[in-house]
Amino acid sequence: MTELLRAERSAFETLFPNKPFRITHGLENDPRLTLDAILDLVKSLPGDRIEYNSGKAAVSQDPDATPLVDLSPEEIVKRVETAGAWMVLKQVETHPDYKALLEDALLSVARAQGFSSLRAAGFSDIQGFVFVSSPNSTTPFHLDSEDNFFVQIHGDKQFNIYDNDDRSIANEDQIEHCITKHRNLKFEERYEAKGMHNDLKPGEGVFVPYLWPHYIKTRETYSISVAITWKTRAVRRRNRLYVANAMLRDRGFAQKAPGVNPGWDALKVAFIATGAAIAAPLRKSEGLRKMIRSMVLGKNANYYYRAQKKDAGAHKAA
Ligand SMILES: [Fe+2]
Repeated sequence: MTELLRAERSAFETLFPNKPFRITHGLENDPRLTLDAILDLVKSLPGDRIEYNSGKAAVSQDPDATPLVDLSPEEIVKRVETAGAWMVLKQVETHPDYKALLEDALLSVARAQGFSSLRAAGFSDIQGFVFVSSPNSTTPFHLDSEDNFFVQIHGDKQFNIYDNDDRSIANEDQIEHCITKHRNLKFEERYEAKGMHNDLKPGEGVFVPYLWPHYIKTRETYSISVAITWKTRAVRRRNRLYVANAMLRDRGFAQKAPGVNPGWDALKVAFIATGAAIAAPLRKSEGLRKMIRSMVLGKNANYYYRAQKKDAGAHKAA
């Protein structure tokens, strides 16, 4: 098989999966990643799997004050050059064509490392995110709950990643907030010394490790990118601890960070794993996903619909 994702052998030997490194890829001309194909994908996804707002967001953006855009997701794709918008299509692995794309890309990495399968290489819980952004758009400073091969398909992007291993950018409480409430973080100039700055062109990309904060800017052209993500067993376990701690903290019980009390950690992981197994079949319904989000994360969890409601209101007023 052709290697769809490529990096120096030394990067995989010495950096993966703990430090970021540059990659190249063979997906820039894939017919599933043209604007026409993405328009079809937009039409096929449920509403809570499409998040969009103005591209004029700040690097240090308060999520409750995110500037919105008065366009539908379909209009954003059709008018991306001038829409002034940023949009992400989430969990595109729910579409079989995109599931195949993600799995083929990760399988090429697994095989290059001598593994015979995705599972043997630790690539489980694979999810894909397709980003479509207008020129001069910003993705605010944030962190994510998964490992990510980020690939640039169209246009140029500045992708800045920051070392938070010593927790001096985001402490454990802030990481818990990012994973369970909203991903955005405040950015301070003093972080720059810890930054890895990447100018990405089509055919290039970067490995973004679990919990490494980053922000992104597009340049003079519109941009299409894909985040090819997965969660190892260790990552899933740590995420479940953050979720358990947030649920208990929200109900008035102070919690220690993951790893401080391993006995309690094991109980919390078992509890969340059981809840996740019960909720898994329910998550197939958009309405039940909305209910589960508000039960676990609180009344502000369904922010996906905020932009859509305002958007619909704006259309009505026009
Ligand atoms: Fe991200």
